[in-house]
Amino acid sequence: MGEPISVPLLDLSAQNQPLAADLKDAFARVLDSSQFILGPEVAGFESLAAESVRTRHAIGVSSGTDALLLSLMTLGIGPGDEVLCPSFTFFATAGAIARVGATPVFVDSVDTDFNIDLNDAERRLTGKTKAIIPVHLFGQPADMDGVQRLAKAHGLAVVEDAAQSMGATFGCRQVGTMGELSAFSFFPSKNLGGFGDGGMITTNDDDLAKRARVLRVHGSEPKYYHKVIGGNFRMDPLHAALLRIKLSHFSSYLAKRRANAAQYLERLAQCDHFAEGRMVLPTEIVGRSHTWNQFTLRVCNGKRDALQSHLASNNIGSAIYYPVALHQQECFAHVPNFGESLPVCEQLAGEVLSIPIYPGLTEEQLGHVADTLANAPI
Ligand SMILES: Cc1ncc(COP(=O)(O)O)c(C=O)c1O
Repeated sequence: MGEPISVPLLDLSAQNQPLAADLKDAFARVLDSSQFILGPEVAGFESLAAESVRTRHAIGVSSGTDALLLSLMTLGIGPGDEVLCPSFTFFATAGAIARVGATPVFVDSVDTDFNIDLNDAERRLTGKTKAIIPVHLFGQPADMDGVQRLAKAHGLAVVEDAAQSMGATFGCRQVGTMGELSAFSFFPSKNLGGFGDGGMITTNDDDLAKRARVLRVHGSEPKYYHKVIGGNFRMDPLHAALLRIKLSHFSSYLAKRRANAAQYLERLAQCDHFAEGRMVLPTEIVGRSHTWNQFTLRVCNGKRDALQSHLASNNIGSAIYYPVALHQQECFAHVPNFGESLPVCEQLAGEVLSIPIYPGLTEEQLGHVADTLANAPI
């Protein structure tokens, strides 16, 4: 008998090891330069990233969380303002709103694409609403036509949370080009996964870009003169140099994730569990291209724990993104719609399960995951 097949949720070494020589060269270059704060490595990465996202400006920052925070600071959002965001998302989306002193207004989601429900968003508008943060969750673009219609009608700024969706498109527009500002993350598990924390803001607006760059360095302009209060939100040159190497392979990573998703969809659609509705496959909405940062199933009828154990006993990693929606998180007890019923978000939090989709997944591994799901005793 051969070795049992093992499939971790994510295998970073499969992606990084083949680049080891180039990564070490980049490290040596930064070491030799002794430029450890901003400078040409960061500027070089920014210009390649701007080209990749097709925006006028890309601004390298310390994390995706800081990209969101800095975007809101750049827009001057603060106390007394309300910002609409989905409740079913990673914490940072709403955490950033609260950290600038504004109020997150939690909005329900659409179960078919996991993204913000714009009808619910519209119902939650008040005279204090200043902005909306659509999250392109798991890599599927939110309905940006609808977001922009709502924003235009009510004078809202749009900040795209593109942390999971670099390379996704909505119609012919790329994610990260449709908001006033957009936030990306290079957390290691993201499609462009870095070597620690890192992020980026993109924008087509020259004034906003200039303001974000000033706020990135404590609001200092010129150095040691401060008209505004910023923070230290800089991307490190070492990180920029390493990310540049991965960026040159990014389209192949994306293609591989898309091919893996297509295989899962094809293999699983006909299985009884999916055909009979005990599990639901994710979909790619027509006219939008998904980055498949996560391949997220819905497991119905309270069977998620049983399925996750079954996968684990077959050496397959999986994860719940996210087990508790944000309108139910204790830290937001002061928020007016804390604890209200947002039924779709709550249902999703109870049903979602993400399975391995990373680019280095082999045929054999993917087949093992698909077969194990198909034969799950649930
Ligand atoms: C939707 C979303 N927003 C924001 C973030 C924050 O990014 P980071 O972890 O780089 O701070 C993440 C990453 O985990 C995310 O998935």
